[in-house]
Amino acid sequence: MKKPVKITLITLSSILVLAIIVAIVGWIWINSAFLNFEKDYAENININEMTIDGYKFFDRNSNGKLDIYEDERRTTEERAVDLLSLMTLEEKIHLLKGSGLASALGRVEPGEGIAGAVGTIVPTPRLGLPTIYLSDGPAGLRIAPTREDDDQTYYCTAFPIGTLLSSTWNVGLVEEVGTTMGKEALEYGIDVILGPGANIMRHPFCGRNFEYYSEDPLLTGHIGAAMVNGIESNGIGASVKHFVANNQETKRLNNDVIISERALREIYLKGFEIIVQKSQPWTIMSSYNKVNGTYTSESRDLLTGVLRDDWGFKGIVMSDWFGGKNPPAQISAGNDLLEPGTKLQWKALTKAAENGELSISDINTSVKRILKLILETKKMQQYEFGNNPDLEAHAKITRKSASEGMVLLKNENTLPIQNTKNVALLGVTSYDFIAGGTGSGDVNESYTVSLEEGLKNVGYEINEIARKAFEAHKDANKEAFIKPEGMNAMFEPYDPPEMQLSMEQISQTAVSADIAIITIGRNSGEGGDRVEKDDFLLSQQEQDMIASTSQVFQEAGKKVIVVLNIGGVIETNSWKEQPDAILLAWQGGQEGGNSVADILSGKINPSGKLPMTFPINLNDHDSNANFPLDGEPFSPSDMIFSSEVPEEEKVRNKDYTLYEEGIYVGYRHFDKVNSEVSYPFGFGLSYTEFELSNLAVAVENDSINVHFTVKNIGDQMGKEVIQIYVSKPNSTIDRPVQELKAFAKTQNLEPGEVADLAISIPISDLRYWDEDKSGWALEKGRYIIQSGTSSRDISLLKEIEI
Ligand code: BGC
Repeated sequence: MKKPVKITLITLSSILVLAIIVAIVGWIWINSAFLNFEKDYAENININEMTIDGYKFFDRNSNGKLDIYEDERRTTEERAVDLLSLMTLEEKIHLLKGSGLASALGRVEPGEGIAGAVGTIVPTPRLGLPTIYLSDGPAGLRIAPTREDDDQTYYCTAFPIGTLLSSTWNVGLVEEVGTTMGKEALEYGIDVILGPGANIMRHPFCGRNFEYYSEDPLLTGHIGAAMVNGIESNGIGASVKHFVANNQETKRLNNDVIISERALREIYLKGFEIIVQKSQPWTIMSSYNKVNGTYTSESRDLLTGVLRDDWGFKGIVMSDWFGGKNPPAQISAGNDLLEPGTKLQWKALTKAAENGELSISDINTSVKRILKLILETKKMQQYEFGNNPDLEAHAKITRKSASEGMVLLKNENTLPIQNTKNVALLGVTSYDFIAGGTGSGDVNESYTVSLEEGLKNVGYEINEIARKAFEAHKDANKEAFIKPEGMNAMFEPYDPPEMQLSMEQISQTAVSADIAIITIGRNSGEGGDRVEKDDFLLSQQEQDMIASTSQVFQEAGKKVIVVLNIGGVIETNSWKEQPDAILLAWQGGQEGGNSVADILSGKINPSGKLPMTFPINLNDHDSNANFPLDGEPFSPSDMIFSSEVPEEEKVRNKDYTLYEEGIYVGYRHFDKVNSEVSYPFGFGLSYTEFELSNLAVAVENDSINVHFTVKNIGDQMGKEVIQIYVSKPNSTIDRPVQELKAFAKTQNLEPGEVADLAISIPISDLRYWDEDKSGWALEKGRYIIQSGTSSRDISLLKEIEI
């Protein structure tokens, strides 16, 4: 009797065990196939590659964790939604803030991380999401050139500063620079470049103007979009910064910009708007400052209202480093990522999520955007970076782009240099050329070609008397010629004293040299604004150097050229009559000396145009009434700690700045008051001459179609930039006399060659911001379409009726 019972029990338990096994296997299968497959891949081990539900998984690090790298069927959006559903709140909050400054400070384990990369998006190992690396921007990558226990170097290409690139007015070329910069990022394992900078040059003293493009939003927008498109063509993200109205460095962490909505929309936001429309960047960086009382990184109106709802921006917004004060408010406003990320922020976000101050839907919105960015990166697609970018090829691009953005301001039968062998170089920066500005916009390049080297490279002889005078001066000031490195470079910008030649030395030089080149150098950067004395204005020593050299050389029948190796506008009117030629070389990156030599020798015909006005006096700028003019020194602690100042203690132009000039920035102001300028917006000479003709304008559907012909009527091959300004006669509202609405640059035209160009301007671009209606409005009636080669050289015009 017992036996059958026993058999029955065994049978029953076997069936039970079998059923349980089947259930478990089935559950795992269902889970892995349909429900929890993303979680499952992270826990699955010993599988190198497999496909589940259309996803291809890959064990990137042979550590058993599978990453998604390919999916033929599902969109990034859907994949981000899946991932989001698998994340814990803790993981989500981690993703909202970076992992701190460890990489930036080079504190990475040998073989891991990227020393010098200034920020990260944290990894989520459980889900196979890698660390995403962020690096400055805008003149090239900024990573540490050397690493501990590693013989390899990681130098990056120093491209020309942003201001030089916009002076090319050549969107195709700027895109090529962006493509090259993005390629370098890809090869160094960087996922997002923190640039370009799209702030408007409101006042010449902003210490970071060199990173920005123009006083005009249209030029800013088109050049910025070209840069973003170039960078992102590599599968690398760009972060357009600093959104918005970050136009001074003094008190940058707290400064409150008090501005009309019209000026904000038409001038300061407009460049960003064009960039979003034309390039839909992966990311935008909010600025440090406040706008009308609210930190931009905490402003839902700006980050969600304007950026996303009005313009359709799809990417993520990240904060500037340590920017903003209230992390939950930042996330709710639409500032998805807090950089570089701190423990305090982590705690604040966790607390706010727990007590409901920060809603789960706001968290999810930002996390989903970040996940989408991660999924789009090349890192996620297993791109194997080799730490071996083609720096030589990139140097060629920087040389070419730098010469195209140099602006010839004056040329009296001097350039290109002819019948010249021996060149006298004056000014320390002739020998010690400045490649770019300081701060996060600086690059760790392996070399900078000086003007001396550049001229030697194209076959000139450098005058020994002047060169020895420089060597003696350098020996006598050894300390001052030591370049500060790392963070020190930011707080004590390199500024060696100028050399001085006696009248006797200049006379001797004039005997042995065929020509003199005087270089005037200026440097500025993040954290501080410029000043008038010895900066905007030439120092007494510089004035004397130009005056005496011009006098002695010209008396001897020899020419004098001034080369401006500067990052921002300086005063030129008081001394520009003295030399025979002036070349605004800007700061041309690591090949700067070669690029200048290419122009001076005539190998390249200059075609750069000013992206801003050079005024006669500083006071001529309307914004001068409301700008910090005393260059308050920047302190390292300002970088991170900044306390709110009580209302009654707030200091004008520091704690707050009144943008009383409204839309009248740059040429919009100078044209309004009809004032003389030293060099107008859009100005730049060439070694040849061009003639503009056959302007035809037609209004078709929603556009104004403009056609014209450009002919090279000189005797050298060259390029010309045609600028289209629009004005509204008898306007019933307060409007600028004219505004740049389009531009085009020709290819190289041979003497006698003609180019037919066509540009289309959307009619909506003629609108102004109507404060009463809080919206864009179009005035009907007559408009004048003007074409020319600078804002003050309009040769053709046509009327249209809207
Ligand atoms: C600058 C940003 C930069 C960031 C990271 C900040 O101080 O304002 O432009 O991208 O640092 O270096």
